[in-house]
Parts: sequence; C-alpha cells; structure tokens
Amino acid sequence: MSARAPRGAISATAGQLALDLPAGLPALAIEPEWKAQQRLWGHSFHPMCSYLASFPAPLVHAFIARYSRPGDVVLDPFSGRGTTPLQACAEGRTGVGNDLNPFAHLLTAAKVEAPNPAEAVTRLTALRLVWAADAPAWEALAGRVRAGGAADSTGREGITLVPAAGTCASPTDGVEAVPAEVAVAFHTRTLAQLLAVRTTLRLDLPVDRFLAAALTGILHGKSASYLSDIMPNTFSMAPRYVRDFAERTGFEPPERDVFRLLEQKLLRLFRQPAPRTAGVALLGDARDVAGRAQSALRARGLPDRARLVVTSPPYLRVVKYGSCNWLRTWLLGFDARTIDATLDDAHHRSAYLVFLREVLAGLRAVLADDAVVVLVIGDVETDRGRDITDGVGLAERTWEAAAEPEGYRLAGVALDSIAAGRKMTRLWGDEAGRATKTDRLLVLGATEAGRRRALAGATLPVDWTWPPRRLRAL
Ligand SMILES: C[S@@+](CC[C@H](N)C(=O)[O-])C[C@H]1O[C@@H](n2cnc3c(N)ncnc32)[C@H](O)[C@@H]1O
Repeated sequence: MSARAPRGAISATAGQLALDLPAGLPALAIEPEWKAQQRLWGHSFHPMCSYLASFPAPLVHAFIARYSRPGDVVLDPFSGRGTTPLQACAEGRTGVGNDLNPFAHLLTAAKVEAPNPAEAVTRLTALRLVWAADAPAWEALAGRVRAGGAADSTGREGITLVPAAGTCASPTDGVEAVPAEVAVAFHTRTLAQLLAVRTTLRLDLPVDRFLAAALTGILHGKSASYLSDIMPNTFSMAPRYVRDFAERTGFEPPERDVFRLLEQKLLRLFRQPAPRTAGVALLGDARDVAGRAQSALRARGLPDRARLVVTSPPYLRVVKYGSCNWLRTWLLGFDARTIDATLDDAHHRSAYLVFLREVLAGLRAVLADDAVVVLVIGDVETDRGRDITDGVGLAERTWEAAAEPEGYRLAGVALDSIAAGRKMTRLWGDEAGRATKTDRLLVLGATEAGRRRALAGATLPVDWTWPPRRLRAL
C-alpha cells in the first residue's frame, strides 16, 4: 500500500494542485493542462449530442497519452456519450465503452462503430425517399397529433396513434400515442418528418444508429440548426414545464427540415474522418462489464485486457439521465422512466460506495496486470437543490471503502478544480456544474506494477497537437 501524506499536508512537488487536496490522500503531480485546450479540441464526433456531466475530450487525452500505447485496450465502464472510447479509437487504441443507459450506449456505439461519410449520406438519401413517397400521409398524421389528438400520460381514448419507433420493417409491431409535450415542440411538417424517420431507422444497424445519434443532437436547441427551439440543447426541460410554457406563450414551433439539418450536422461531424480503429460499445451494468468486454474483444481477435480505464461513475443523485433526455429517448423509442429506474445514480453515500466496490471488484478480470485506473469523482454539495455533506470527500471515501479493500494500489489524486460560481454549461452541463464543485481524479494501479506506471507517467509531457502527428500519416 502506498505511504500516505500526513493529514492536510502540502506536497511541494505537486505545487498548487496539492493545496486543495482532501486531507490524507497523496497528490499526483498531473497538471490539469486539459483546462487550457480549445473548446472543440479532439475528434469532431465528440459533440454529436450533449450529455450532462460528460468528460471534456482533452481530460481523457491527458491519460490516454500517458498510460496507453496504440493497440492497447482503453475501457470506460460508465461511458456516457462515449468520450473515452471515442478518443481512444481516434488515438489508435481499442476504445471499449459500456453503459446501462440505452441512450448512452447508442451514442457510444455511433462513435466507435461509425459508418463512413458516403454510407451515412446514402442512408440519409434513402430516408428522404421514404419520406417523399408518403409525405402527405405523414403530414396528415402529424397534423392530427398536433391538433389535439396527442395523449397525456394516462392514455385517453380517441387519441391519434402513430407507428412505434423502428417498426417500418414490421408495421404490425405496434402503434403508440405521441406525448403532448412532444407534439407541441415541433412544427407539423417537422414532426411528420420525424415520425417517418423514427419509424424507419433500425437501431441495430451501425449506419442507422449514427444517424439516430446525430438526430438526437439537433432535436432541440436555441438556434436555426435545431429542429425545435422550445428548449435549450443541454437537456430536456420537464415535460410539464414544456406543456405549460407552450400554452402560456402561444408557442409556435418554427418549420425546420429534418433532412437538411441532418445533412448539415453530418458535415460538421465528418470534419474529421471516422477513427480508423474501431471500438466496442456494450450495453449493461458496470458491475459485470469484464466478461462482456472480454467476449467482445476475443470475438474480434483483440487483446482481451485493458491497460487503462478512464471513467466517471454516476454522481450521487445529480443527474437523471432518462428524464433529462426525454425528448431524445422518445425519438429513439426508449422509455425515460425505465432508464431512470434502472441506473445507479440515486444512491446515498454508503450504498454508492458498496456499488463502486462491486464495480472495482468486477473490473479486475478485464485489467492487465499493470493497468492504470482513473476514476473521476465529483464532490457533490447539493442534492436536488438541498445542501448535503455526505458527497464531500467522496474520492477519499472511494479509496478507503471501495478500491483499497479490492487490492488496488493508490498512485494519488489529481484535481480538476472548478472555481466556485463558474458557469460550467459547456464542459460539464448546467446541473452537474451547479452541484459538483471539485472533481478529483483518483489514480490507481491494478497492482503495484500499475501504481509504478501511474507514478512514472504522471510527469511525462503530453503532445496537445490535434490530430496527433503520428496518426495523421496513418
Ligand atoms: C457521469 S456519467 C459518464 C459520462 C461520461 N464520462 C462521458 O464522457 O459522457 C455516468 C454514467 O453512468 C451510467 N450508469 C449509471 N449506472 C450504471 C450502471 N450500473 N452500469 C453502467 N452504467 C451506469 C449513466 O447512464 C451515465 O451515462
């Protein structure tokens, strides 16, 4: 076990970083250089769709560059919108992402198993043709939905039903009502196009997944590049708020063409080619990711153990990923409430630490002997608006109650200090930014060899040129 600094000690080598460290954990002298990079640093797929509390890509690069080599497996068991696996693939590593949220899985899969631009554009043209073949019927359907035939959550009689998402291949699969808050958000023609596209897209096909993920990214936001301007892009406002707002203000949704805006979005995404190295996207619980990751890696003939994990577990009761994305989950045919009921983000601290211990125990089987594990953990100071105390010092507690008992070795803690009061909308999302002030990066070795590698790599200089010189020639 690593030696601990005396409580409250200030490490001379770590300089300013150590000043704010929780008492008791040694500082790791990794400067948060990621803070100094440009907003859109990294692969152009990163901003495909906003996702609360997602990593800035440069943060992930700071660890990929130090602790992995091309060809290595880099894993994130809580991959969210796929920042770690995408950045890993873009740097010639095999990025493996796992998440229990089907929306996060879709975003991750879209990025690490991406089509090429020609495939994406060809599929978009096919979708246009599907629409064109039946536009009057789709418009009439959307008109009826918007005229008041939309359902409330109790499912009144006499409501207009539409084909369920993904049912074009088998129209007998099902019909469903359109929630009122969806109906009010879009112009009739825009809604008609969305209904046609949503019915047609097959989320088991990589190219369709990519288009669906891109579409979630332009669904709502406050500029003409979005399909509805009823709410900002960051997350979905509460459904009731949206309904009340529309009624109170007489909201008239602007007419926006799904196919034109999606085409423009594809141009932005393909500013850089898709990474040449494909990754793996898994859907499931982080506690049993090891077996699933190894099966998937072996099936592809790849090394089946990760040399680096960069992840941020769900924060304590900060973000409800289903309800925060209800309009996007509607588009995809996922149920926001079911997502919220499944995810492990509602724990109080003791249950949370048990959960993290189970995750770290499960991870072992998929870690290389000298693996480095980086856990980004936020100090959570409020719970749904109320001050709490048990979210502070969480990194230290995670070490003591989850990592150390599972035999991990502590290399140290680096800080990603977020100045109090600073608006973090762009990097971390509004909600998360308000609730979590300081993120601590707990850096562990799977074994003593991993700890030594973590310590030796901490001061290595990192090349921030993007795209990296080495890979440009590939
Ligand atoms: C803080 S976010 C990760 C964001 C990610 N670092 C990114 O850059 O987008 C935490 C993630 O944990 C996921 N999650 C919650 N409980 C989970 C579980 N038991 N297993 C796997 N994923 C889970 C949530 O869906 C969410 O995407």
